[in-house]
Amino acid sequence: MKRVITYGTFDLLHYGHINLLKRAKQYGDYLIVGLSTDEFNWNEKHKKTYFSYEKRKQLLESIRYVDLVIPEENWEQKVSDVNEFHVDYFVMGDDWTGKFDFVQEESNAKVIYLPRTPEISTTQIKNDLNR
Ligand code: CTP
Repeated sequence: MKRVITYGTFDLLHYGHINLLKRAKQYGDYLIVGLSTDEFNWNEKHKKTYFSYEKRKQLLESIRYVDLVIPEENWEQKVSDVNEFHVDYFVMGDDWTGKFDFVQEESNAKVIYLPRTPEISTTQIKNDLNR
């Protein structure tokens, strides 16, 4: 069984997120999402989410491509997650290109950056609604 992992905030879930999850799942049979906790978002990513961690987790767990949601609590956990869950592919959107190359050097997982879906983001949705 091939395992895939991806990370993100996935707030105000949108079709760009679904596209990413669908394409990530195509690399294997089991997709794990490392979901940024509210504390990690606020302290490290300087993001205040609209939906709480529990709500975002519930939404992700209802998506057919997602098999497991785990908390992303710090920047350092990537390699240990990959080892713990025996991950084969570490997939991120291409806004992160190059940022996680170290995972490939420090584990057996292959790192893949997928093109983002154009013209949609959580930030965009928030900005449009505030206009
Ligand atoms: N993603 C994507 N295409 C989009 C938006 C997001 O492929 N149009 C991917 C990101 O590259 C990332 C994952 O979905 O791998 C989670 O992204 P996240 O940062 O949570 O979503 P954004 O919509 O980019 O949120 P924000 O505007 O707050 O950065």
